[in-house]
Amino acid sequence: MTALLTVRSLTKTYASGQRALQGIDLEIRRGEIFALLGPNGAGKTTLISIVCGLVRASSGTVTVDGHDIVRDWRAARSLIGLVPQELTTDAFETVRATVAFSRGLFGLAGDAAALERVLRSLSLWERRDSKIITLSGGMKRRLLIAKALAHEPRLLFLDEPTAGVDVTLRRELWALVRALRDTGVTVILTTHYIEEAEQMADRVGVIDGGRLVLVEDKAVLMRKLGGKQLTLALQAPLAALPPALAGLPLALAEGGHALVYTYEGAAGGGARGGIAELLLRLGEAGVGFKDLQTSQRSLEDIFVGLVGQAAAPAPASASAPTPAPAASSSAA
Ligand SMILES: Nc1ncnc2c1ncn2[C@@H]1O[C@H](COP(=O)(O)OP(=O)(O)O)[C@@H](O)[C@H]1O
Ligand SMILES: [Mg+2]
Repeated sequence: MTALLTVRSLTKTYASGQRALQGIDLEIRRGEIFALLGPNGAGKTTLISIVCGLVRASSGTVTVDGHDIVRDWRAARSLIGLVPQELTTDAFETVRATVAFSRGLFGLAGDAAALERVLRSLSLWERRDSKIITLSGGMKRRLLIAKALAHEPRLLFLDEPTAGVDVTLRRELWALVRALRDTGVTVILTTHYIEEAEQMADRVGVIDGGRLVLVEDKAVLMRKLGGKQLTLALQAPLAALPPALAGLPLALAEGGHALVYTYEGAAGGGARGGIAELLLRLGEAGVGFKDLQTSQRSLEDIFVGLVGQAAAPAPASASAPTPAPAASSSAA
């Protein structure tokens, strides 16, 4: 099956001389949720804007379902919906009129059934005759998505859909995006929140300084790079690692009060080189511990390793940006 979106050797240098994109190659599969993750200024909005025909590329090509976005822009654009980063709606317009207008912009005839489908799928049908100014923040967000879906596109871009959105609404939007994907819409979202990519994406692309530094299945990424750590709280602090423990992937932490063991997920339960051997050798070396805790490396760590800076923590999030310990138990 061919890709729905194909980006080849795409560059963009703004008139200011700013090189926003420096050679992007990317294929988006039909039906996936792709998260484009990168810090502010990485080039996410520029990439989206080129695909949507709002910004002209300096070089390179983009095709949507085989339609070149320049030569065959009308066909390409009819397949694309965009929920922009900057929110814009007319406060005194009604929900129904706003969405109908967006559909009309694509030269499509009014279609009451299609309009009702879109509004119902976003739980806006009951509010179809309300003026936008009377809607809650969550409804306004949903309305922007309804506008983007008005012409029934196959590919939906969401540019930082949950920037500055509280945790309840963020989860509501995530559920909504998954439901859209289940109806066959391909979704590309940009975010600088790790948690969003981790929760939502089938695949993750990391963009930094106008270059894609990584594109990978999320699950593969987490498996490949997501090592685990076992932290042991020691009964008595150590000044240095005992020679008997040499050769193990161990490090002292917390001023000698803790011992950190790093291993790959699969090795933890294995007989050789795993936790069993570690505990055996600790016993032989006479190192006692009073507590142990394991944690999984997260996308956050991977991102920091690639981009050299932390992603923004999700604001007002109920869950911690770094993962809670995967398991915790006491031992004497
Ligand atoms: N219209 C513009 N004119 C000049 N520079 C721009 C313009 N839009 C974006 N840039 C610059 O291009 C780079 C990428 O910006 P952008 O695509 O908005 O990144 P992101 O969406 O990842 O935050 C930034 O350095 C930004 O300042
Ligand atoms: Mg942006």
